[in-house]
Amino acid sequence: MDPKYLQLADRLERAENAIAMTGAGISVESGIPAFRGSQGLWAEYDPMEYAHIQSFYNNPAKVWRMLKDLDALLVQAKPNPAHTALAELESMGLLKCIITQNVDSLHQEAGSKKVVEFHGNGKTLVCLDCGRKYSSRDIPLDSLPPRCNCMGVLKPDVVFFGEAIPYEAGSQAQSVACSCDLIMVIGTSAVVAPASMIPVTAKNNGAYVVEINLEPTVLSQTISDLVINESAGRVLPEVVTWLKSRGK
Ligand code: APR
Repeated sequence: MDPKYLQLADRLERAENAIAMTGAGISVESGIPAFRGSQGLWAEYDPMEYAHIQSFYNNPAKVWRMLKDLDALLVQAKPNPAHTALAELESMGLLKCIITQNVDSLHQEAGSKKVVEFHGNGKTLVCLDCGRKYSSRDIPLDSLPPRCNCMGVLKPDVVFFGEAIPYEAGSQAQSVACSCDLIMVIGTSAVVAPASMIPVTAKNNGAYVVEINLEPTVLSQTISDLVINESAGRVLPEVVTWLKSRGK
């Protein structure tokens, strides 16, 4: 096995409190585009026009037209081998928690139990007037924006730019980041705060930082102890197979 993969496997075996933080990159192999880069969603849509909460308030129908396209991808997407490998690591007792910036529920669908959804959940809709929540499955998108029974506008229960991180998710993420001894930072450009502070918090509290990403990021030269520039869907299953072969 590649020496870097071995190093990661060894660290996972020895860690007492390993966690992962994931970003859009882990779901690219499930057919959901990432945000940044030439293939990213923000190359097609200006995030300030489509992902800022003020834009949503100003023109929910316009933002919903983009969200409808995205929703079609989310509904079809299935967990890929990287999601499955993380779920297996948890059931092997080698991974305590995943903090994800993704809103696609693919970690949970792959079987991960302890998942902190830092940016909310895209398959839940919330009424801006009365706060009632709906499963997106139950809400047709024929007429936009979709509305609550009370006629309030429905918004995906995700964090838009300009919105706060949900309190519970923020405090859980802070607490696991402070107490972990290994963090795998997977498929995120790590440029959006406060999520980008999670690996820094972990590092400041003594954690070993492993980055798995197709390309170097702002973390690579600063806090990462081990950088693996390959796809998550390749690295993670191979590491899990190796660990299993050792009877883990
Ligand atoms: N394996 C590993 N890494 C990958 C893969 C892959 N198969 N494919 C892409 N990547 C990497 C890219 O190189 C990039 O660094 O994933 C990263 C994705 O970065 P972004 O598109 O910036 O996604 P993310 O970091 O999750 O964005 C953070 O920004 O607008 C928002 O709210 C949105 O939660 C999102 C936040």
